[in-house]
Amino acid sequence: MAVNGTTMKLPSMFAAAPYIPADPIFALTAEYLADSFPKKVNLGQGAYRDEKAQPWVLPSVARSRKTIIEQGLQHEYLPIAGLARFRSKVAELALGRDIYNSRSKKIATCQTLSGTGSLHLAGLLIRSCQKPSLPKVYITTPTWANHHHIFSSLGFPCQSFRYYDPDTKTLDLDTYLSTLNSAEPGSIIILHACAHNPTGLDPTPEEWKEIGRIMKERNLFPLFDAAYLGFNSGDFNKDAFAIRYFVNDLDMEVALCLSFAKNMGLYGERVGCLVLATSTEEVARNSQSVLESLQRSEISNPPAFGAKVAATILEDAGLRESWFEDLRTMSGRIQSMRKMLYDGLVANAAPGNWDHLLRQSGMFGFLGLSPKVVIELKEKYHIYMAANSRVSIAGLNKDNVEYVAKSIAEVMKNE
Ligand code: LMR
Repeated sequence: MAVNGTTMKLPSMFAAAPYIPADPIFALTAEYLADSFPKKVNLGQGAYRDEKAQPWVLPSVARSRKTIIEQGLQHEYLPIAGLARFRSKVAELALGRDIYNSRSKKIATCQTLSGTGSLHLAGLLIRSCQKPSLPKVYITTPTWANHHHIFSSLGFPCQSFRYYDPDTKTLDLDTYLSTLNSAEPGSIIILHACAHNPTGLDPTPEEWKEIGRIMKERNLFPLFDAAYLGFNSGDFNKDAFAIRYFVNDLDMEVALCLSFAKNMGLYGERVGCLVLATSTEEVARNSQSVLESLQRSEISNPPAFGAKVAATILEDAGLRESWFEDLRTMSGRIQSMRKMLYDGLVANAAPGNWDHLLRQSGMFGFLGLSPKVVIELKEKYHIYMAANSRVSIAGLNKDNVEYVAKSIAEVMKNE
């Protein structure tokens, strides 16, 4: 701006930007990487590690990559909604072939930037359909921190409710059901399809049925965060039970936010998909058009490589079987490490009862340690875990599990 011939410097465009502390999970990974202690252990971010504490390229993924490259990989844009064969195979996988075939015209799908992108796109779609008065989003306490971040940044009012009882270290079903019974019709409920993050506690099939019955009766919208299908139990069909029950048995509209980061080990490729099971063909067609319009202004079109890797696995019966085997390998190793950690804590007389560790499933163990113990484990023993004492069990192996169990016991005894 020129005043009397001189140029006045305007304040920064970004002067109002507050300083926001780094994301705790990513900051913990950075701290771990910067630590030069040889026996350091990373139980922070949820990423699978093999027996040597190394990232694991799934054999099914390696074969799929090879096939894609041999077939001649080009680098063209994907369509706005992503790779069509990926989207249809993902919907079929999540819903099961029969349910998918009977409803395929009422389904809308969009490839997304992993689970986060999928949740975000689902939020954008709901916001565009529900403006100006946005429904409440119900989120369990505790939960994956990004749930609040995603939905509050989109302007949704977020309501937390107690999911976990810290005294009994069990799922607080009474609070869950009474929350559903008092939620305003039309509210959105974020459901962890399986492997609840961070508690590792899922409703039983009977409990899911009760949750679904109330949700249907009260007209609450199920938004499934499905980041661990197949990874939780090693059995994809088992892990997709709640999703299929809501769609098929209850005949409800649902949004499924799928990620292939964990179950295919495609963390950096950002492979995800939003699948909407809607009530009519018209709603599906219109929702599809809105998804594509929203996607165009957000990312234009999604990344191609990871979706091709996943689609190639899902299309080929042999590769799909090999992937199911990989899922069993990962979940089996996690289950055996969970048991070894439990045995180690008991053998080292770590104060308290550790049965909760065995009740939990999936990638995480929710230990129930005090913040002081968590800090001391990091500072003195170089063992890194989330501040709420969630541990990524995949970070354990036969070489470090005894060290971890012994260290936890030692720190707790001196607390
Ligand atoms: C986790 O919960 O550690 C992972 O899902 C990584 C992340 O993005 O937070």
